[in-house]
Amino acid sequence: MGAPGAGKGTQSQRCATLLNVPKLSTGDMLRSEVQAKTPLGLDISERINRGDLVSDEIIVGLLADRIKEKDCTKGFILDGFPRTVAQAQALDNVLASTGMSLDHIINLKVNEEDLVKRFTGRRVALGSGQTYHVENNPPKEQGICDQSGEKLVQRPDDSEDVVRHRLDVYYEQTAPVIEFYRSEKRLEEIDGMNSVNEVFEDLCTTIGVNNSELHKFSRTGSCCV
Ligand code: AP5
Repeated sequence: MGAPGAGKGTQSQRCATLLNVPKLSTGDMLRSEVQAKTPLGLDISERINRGDLVSDEIIVGLLADRIKEKDCTKGFILDGFPRTVAQAQALDNVLASTGMSLDHIINLKVNEEDLVKRFTGRRVALGSGQTYHVENNPPKEQGICDQSGEKLVQRPDDSEDVVRHRLDVYYEQTAPVIEFYRSEKRLEEIDGMNSVNEVFEDLCTTIGVNNSELHKFSRTGSCCV
């Protein structure tokens, strides 16, 4: 969990690779629908480009279907979900019906002004879902995704005015979810202001993963937010 630009996509991708489990990013799922111009994609593109949330009904439906796929049986990492109290409640219900539970709920903390700065340099690969930054986290070859070789682009919702609106939406609708998990003492917090590598190290320590434990971890039905 974390505000827009806190590093959720960057870190969840690294964790997914490390743990050999899928990263389920609701933002990536929605952008795929938009890119493929599906009826859903056409319906939601304006909301996404404006920086507003897509309805709970659509998101929960997408996520519940995705979790039932075979590659999720050994666990998965959620990125960008849940973002409202209703989504958090729906997640508990969906997990209960599959016999899984949340192992970790992790919040990346970053100052607002640093968040806004991160967007101007962000470049993404729409196909692979990989995220880069022109200075802080550059690809090996400028403008090209290391993993898929596709051309990197700027997201349409990364302009400063839309980013500020996304932050307002975050404080209004997602901060209460974080407060809820904190009040239940289920939230683990990490300083997201450190470098990408340092944040990743803290994350690994938080989830208690080291090389010798990887095999054991990937066999259990684990999932992290
Ligand atoms: P989504 O794609 O989830 O966007 P977001 O939450 O706004 O988060 P971002 O992807 O912008 O940031 P991030 O935290 O992943 O940071 P990143 O790793 O990229 O959602 C987009 C839209 O889809 C929403 O606005 C909404 O419309 C819809 N949506 C999605 N989920 C939804 C839901 N559940 N319900 C309803 N609607 C939903 O990093 C940012 C930049 O910083 C990168 O360039 C990166 O390289 C760099 N960086 C990362 N870490 C560091 C570091 N430690 N130091 C320096 N730079 C860093």
